[in-house]
Amino acid sequence: MHYNVVLLPGDGIGPEVLAEGVKVMENVGKLFEHTFSLKPDLIGGISIDTYGVPLRQETLQLCKGADAVLFGSVGGPKWDDLSLAVRPEDGLLALRKGLRLFANIRPMKVNPVLIGSSPIKTDVIQGVDLVVVRELTGGLYFGKPKKRWVTQTGRRGVDTLQYTELEIDRILRVGFELASRRKKHLVSVDKANVLESSRLWREIAIELAPQYPDVTLEHMLVDTCAMQLIINPRRFDVIVTENTFGDILTDEAAAIAGSMGMLPSASLASVPSFTERERYTQGMYEPIHGSAPDIAGQGKANPLAMILSVALMFRYSFGLDQEAEAVEKAVESALAEGYRTPDIGVAGSNIVSTAKMGEVVAARII
Ligand code: IPM
Ligand code: MG
Repeated sequence: MHYNVVLLPGDGIGPEVLAEGVKVMENVGKLFEHTFSLKPDLIGGISIDTYGVPLRQETLQLCKGADAVLFGSVGGPKWDDLSLAVRPEDGLLALRKGLRLFANIRPMKVNPVLIGSSPIKTDVIQGVDLVVVRELTGGLYFGKPKKRWVTQTGRRGVDTLQYTELEIDRILRVGFELASRRKKHLVSVDKANVLESSRLWREIAIELAPQYPDVTLEHMLVDTCAMQLIINPRRFDVIVTENTFGDILTDEAAAIAGSMGMLPSASLASVPSFTERERYTQGMYEPIHGSAPDIAGQGKANPLAMILSVALMFRYSFGLDQEAEAVEKAVESALAEGYRTPDIGVAGSNIVSTAKMGEVVAARII
């Protein structure tokens, strides 16, 4: 098969890790006889510097026409001035919105060989295997009004937490569908004891539950969820939640897994492979970590989150499960053989550069 893939390396460590993702993808192509047209473009800070905007319309159009988008990371100290009118992150948000990528799937599995890198006790995190389904195009990130102004009593700022029934319904369905394919346990995370949008969220979850009789639905407040992720992460199978809660909880999940450099994500515009009608979907694939400007350009970044995002691309956008598993197994082999980037390094492990880690994984695709 032939696939069109847009590459958006972005800023910071984005280009370094994306290069390794591409290395792995091309090796999969050789072995499984697929070809790719790769179309690189700019996003984020580098796009602001080059074109004055974090995402050009042309870039959005290019992505709309592609089978999948691979994204590195955006942002950095150069563009961190909070008074700036345009920010690198706006490019990512505009892309998510423009491609209607409402469903962000963030799997988190604790790899037995990395247990020592986690700050949590081994017996607590052993065997953790969960997925966070994060709503990605609504809530505080996009709600209007969103502005700052000056009043007689001082400055004010507002963001709006708003959700429509349709937005809640479709993301909850992703959660139910995913849960029904896993351990059939869905935790819907909200703040229904305080927020009106959360009360609507919970109401819709309760209404949908009878359509998924094989899935056990549990409601959990977001503060409780943050605590449960630390004290008993094994209790989770699938978590579904709104945009901001999902952003926060997935950084916590990544830290529990041992490193921000390990967690991939898929951002999708429809529910893939869950119904025959929409077996595969266009998507954007990105590591959940940021641009890590402190280590950019030094070959220290962990490319595994990016490489595992490539695996998700094979699975969700191309429907190539075997290829996805080949990538995931190659990552496991590299780790099992002791290869580590500095973030997951321990005494006695073989610390390698970003590029070497990519090479090692690519060479283990079988
Ligand atoms: C993420 C990131 C982004 C987000 C930033 C870079 C805008 O933290 O993907 O989790 O908040 O969604
Ligand atoms: Mg985040």
